[in-house]
Amino acid sequence: MTSVAVVGSQWGDEGKGKVVDLLTEGADLVVRFQGGNNAGHTLVVGEETYALHLVPSGILHPGKGALIGNGVVVDPDVLIGEIDALAARGIAVTPANLTVSSAAHVIMPYHRQLDVARERPLPGKGDRAVIGTTGRGIGPCYEDKASRQGLRMGDILLPDRFRARARTAILEKNALFAHLYGLPETGLEELEALRLKWHARLAPYIGDARSPLWEALRLGKNVLFEGAQGSQLDIDHGTYPYVTSSTTVSGGACGGAGAPPKSLDKVLGLVKAYTTRVGEGPFPTEVLGPLGDRLREAGREYGTTTGRPRRCGHLDAVAVRTAAALSGITSLAVTKLDVLRGLGPLKIARGYRLDGGELLCMPLDIHDLARCEPIYSDQPGFDEDISEARRLADLPSGARSYLDALEEHCGVPLGLVSVGPERGETILLEKFF
Ligand code: GDP
Ligand code: IMO
Ligand code: MG
Repeated sequence: MTSVAVVGSQWGDEGKGKVVDLLTEGADLVVRFQGGNNAGHTLVVGEETYALHLVPSGILHPGKGALIGNGVVVDPDVLIGEIDALAARGIAVTPANLTVSSAAHVIMPYHRQLDVARERPLPGKGDRAVIGTTGRGIGPCYEDKASRQGLRMGDILLPDRFRARARTAILEKNALFAHLYGLPETGLEELEALRLKWHARLAPYIGDARSPLWEALRLGKNVLFEGAQGSQLDIDHGTYPYVTSSTTVSGGACGGAGAPPKSLDKVLGLVKAYTTRVGEGPFPTEVLGPLGDRLREAGREYGTTTGRPRRCGHLDAVAVRTAAALSGITSLAVTKLDVLRGLGPLKIARGYRLDGGELLCMPLDIHDLARCEPIYSDQPGFDEDISEARRLADLPSGARSYLDALEEHCGVPLGLVSVGPERGETILLEKFF
């Protein structure tokens, strides 16, 4: 029995979807534990491409179980849409293979409205930090969870409780909408109509998602935890306030799914061979201008969720090293190495210079991070097509030496290398299950 957590070690979009799909082959159960449909996980299987936001990426494999844990925030309409879209492509997502935690919080329409309203300028009210959120209501939903005003998936099953809790929740929202944001108020009736619709479609999926997890662990099955976002977007350890609102490091699987800490046998840290970031916030190795544009085009770096162009830059080993410390990363999955073809010479930030000293981990405050100068290690790069490589020995020397430098500077061994978006375009170096 093994359990493996797959986590992003940068700012998200490292290729978690591809790797989770690949590893699901050997897993029995795949578990999402945080985030919501701010995530966009892309899977390529043969000619088919799937973009999943909420349903765990393991769902493409028949006979595997999937859980949406209590730490996830669920937009029920998005979940229904995803189940229907998968069904239309012949992939059955039924209560037999997906359980949604009754304790997962519901993203309500007012959460989305609030998220979007906060990102707009408020004339006459001074400047506010724009985060560049996905506008999916993630932050406001987690706020209500923490302030205990949230509605949970289990409330969809209980009309009286849903009504009472929704009534309380909209009191404050409507005051904000009317007096600060100039938005129409939310009526209780429209929320009750939504509850009816959600109940009709989702009731059989809602349950205690901890029990199937505990049962799988007890029976010695193989469990895969699918992280969303990345370490630098973690609410506590990321580049606050330019972060998401959940715990994205591996420990999030404990709170967000009920996994006992000792049940995480391996933590696979996803590392894109360069760095990208969507939204605002510091990014020490960002490359603006033609090289940044070439990376974006070569890697098709446009968001899976919002379509926004991703900011691109050199690989930042300091960020990965920090992620490794936070998540206890046992090996690295390097993705999109193929994208660097012909873009040499390449650079890897092996440290930061700050106030005359050298740092190997990211400072916790963005005020300090903004003053850090990356210290680069130069790499020759490579010009060959590597998409057919299935063993390290198949790689040209420039790609090999880049991987060697990456491994050395990040301080964690490689577990796999991805050389293309398709499931099979992978060099597997470790047996995960
Ligand atoms: P996630 O959010 O971490 O799951 O990553 P995304 O799916 O948002 O972004 C990764 C993108 O890169 C997707 O379009 C994947 O299909 C693609 N991808 C994943 N691995 C590779 C790879 O090794 N090479 C190339 N060229 N594309 C990849
Ligand atoms: P996956 O799982 C990349 C970013 C947003 C924004 C910040 C806060 O596909 O890697 P939010 O809507 O969460 O309140 O936005 O976090 N962000 C992501 N960036 N990949 C993601 O998910 C992201 N999810 C959120 O762009 O900067
Ligand atoms: Mg993504």
